Amino acid sequence: MRVCMIGTGYVGLVSGACFADFGHDVVCVDKDASKIERLNSGGIPIYEPGLDKLVADNVAAGRLSFTLDLAEAMKGADAVFIAVGTPSRRGDGHADLSYVYAASEEIAAYIDQYVVVVTKSTVPVGTGKEVLDIIAKARPDLKPGVDFSTASNPEFLREGAAISDFKRPDRVVVGAEEEAARDVMRELYRPLFINETPIVFTNRVTSELIKYAANAFLATKITFINEMADICEKTGANVQEVAKGIGLDGRIGSKFLHAGPGYGGSCFPKDTLALVQTAKDYGVPTKIVEAVVDINDTRKKAMADRVKEACGGSLKDKTVAVLGLTFKPNTDDMRDSPSLDVIPAMKADGATVRVHDPEGMEEAEKSFGETVTWCDGPYHAMEGADVVVLLTEWDAYRALDFKKMQSLLKAPIFVDLRNVYNPETMRDHGFSYVSIGRP
Ligand code: UDX
Repeated sequence: MRVCMIGTGYVGLVSGACFADFGHDVVCVDKDASKIERLNSGGIPIYEPGLDKLVADNVAAGRLSFTLDLAEAMKGADAVFIAVGTPSRRGDGHADLSYVYAASEEIAAYIDQYVVVVTKSTVPVGTGKEVLDIIAKARPDLKPGVDFSTASNPEFLREGAAISDFKRPDRVVVGAEEEAARDVMRELYRPLFINETPIVFTNRVTSELIKYAANAFLATKITFINEMADICEKTGANVQEVAKGIGLDGRIGSKFLHAGPGYGGSCFPKDTLALVQTAKDYGVPTKIVEAVVDINDTRKKAMADRVKEACGGSLKDKTVAVLGLTFKPNTDDMRDSPSLDVIPAMKADGATVRVHDPEGMEEAEKSFGETVTWCDGPYHAMEGADVVVLLTEWDAYRALDFKKMQSLLKAPIFVDLRNVYNPETMRDHGFSYVSIGRP
């Protein structure tokens, strides 16, 4: 099959490379000339494990290419995917759909055979119909559902594990109104039939809602366990054991029950807000998701207080070593990362902050600039610090040398916001150790 992928951001690039790896011919299009130039000379604009090799292999095999020219890319395409950004609009939390609308207009101009126009970007419920209307308006000569179809095919990729998530998904969701469109989508995902991946076919609007419902549910699950952690801290219970004890119940499931500083990233914060807004627009209460948004925002801000308490109530004239800046490991993504709340709050309390992140420092510099000291390793960050704060659970921080830490730190205080270490072991090594929801 021939695929045209519009947008070479995270979703577009991963999906395009994976479709090519399935054996399809994929052309990725972007308006950003520097991005296309970089991709054409073998560079990858984002950090995602394994993506550089996947792209290089498929480019070499002649199945994957990059261009600025949409007309060229759409020639003979069976499916054109819209994978452009849908950032939260400032102020009202609505997704900004201007890129999606612009892409739809441009696609309309180049349709010269039956093609399925698929939204892969996370778009509000009802956007597929808008895409269809835009194309129909621009091209009155085309009959919707006959000369072209629109479909929804949300992505469920986790950053850092996106390639395996694409190739071994729990399920693929396709929302389409016509059998011809379902046939194209079935053929595109046929390589997944080998491992019997369920493909859930629904109508377009249901598929759009599935994406939001999934992310809101997961965000709720994390927020729930975070609240349990707070109760654990007051009662002396252990949140990791609570998570295990409830997670073994098949109805609950063990995943997404790690208590931490609050969720971040490009999806959960944006999608929960967008769902709340959609529900408001339709006059439907979504009290649970609204509470989740609110609790998570408050939680991220409150994390600096834990560091403050661990240091005796104030961070004035204290030096804090922060390990990890990205919202989770194996990505350079800083979007809505807890570090963006925790670091400014510590600084406001008078702290000097030394930071390290294995992959995120270039990205993080855009937010923190000269306000922090950039260090080239975790031990460098700890030199002369009064406290260590583990903010992102990178593998590089999972087996720190306690003796070395003791020799570098002014005081052996360790605030572990990801529960990476064992409290007893830390105490045995002479640390004053604070974690989340554990006695
Ligand atoms: C998420 C969804 O998992 C994915 O399906 C969707 O398409 C996009 O959003 P991603 O944002 O890449 O993916 O990361 P994920 O691993 O889900 O983590 C999101 C946030 O939740 C991170 O800040 C992480 O630290 C936090 N989290 C996750 C927890 O605090 N506890 C958990 O148990 C799991």
